[in-house]
Amino acid sequence: MYFIANWKMFGGLSTLNSLKKVIKFLKIFKKSKKIKIIYCPPSTLICPMSKKVINSKIQVGAQNCHESFTYGASTGSINPTMLKNVGAKYVILGHSENRDSGETDKLINAKIRAATQAGLKVIFCIGETLGQKRKKITKKILSKQINFGLQKIKKRKNIVIAYEPVWSIGTGLIPKADDLFNTINFIKKKVINIKVLYGGSVNPKNINELKLIKNIDGFLIGGASQDPKKFIDIIKKTYN
Ligand code: 13P
Repeated sequence: MYFIANWKMFGGLSTLNSLKKVIKFLKIFKKSKKIKIIYCPPSTLICPMSKKVINSKIQVGAQNCHESFTYGASTGSINPTMLKNVGAKYVILGHSENRDSGETDKLINAKIRAATQAGLKVIFCIGETLGQKRKKITKKILSKQINFGLQKIKKRKNIVIAYEPVWSIGTGLIPKADDLFNTINFIKKKVINIKVLYGGSVNPKNINELKLIKNIDGFLIGGASQDPKKFIDIIKKTYN
């Protein structure tokens, strides 16, 4: 199981102290060997966080990257090679908050290729909006995001998919258990041998419901991951 923390635009150097609790917990947690813990802080914290988590179970990831893996004239951008250089092992790509600000499937595909070429593992996000769900075109949307996003990428062993319905992000809403099971199943049939995580308002309360959905390989956690107690609770409850 994957437990991935997406801190989004949150955190300064002092916030890194909150990792101590999580590291301590992971040392004594009996199921630690079975789980992967990845923290994706803002780019400013990748390097200091990587230093803090040395010799712990926690791995570090980035939240986005440029579509070129080499240096270039691109003011304000960071390429995947640079992220790897400061300790990132993963990168989140295709997040709806970035699709919302104009990232196309084509651009996301280029980013996935650059990231894997640079040796990063990719957390590839897909998901439908509320309007698309109401129109009952969720599968069509996910198919399009997958087909274009993973185009010409043959080696997919370094990619996991995070299914994040846009309407569930930051709203407290989660999909009905049956719907979620079916959607994850649909994704797994479409992309064979891929791990599929769920993201969207995962918290210590609804984890009891979400953990019963058998085909989920882990969770991508936003808001709740900023609080070490909530993050630990989510992990604990998944195995209770
Ligand atoms: P929340 O858990 O805050 O809803 O965010 C989910 C998310 O976007 C993770 O990538």
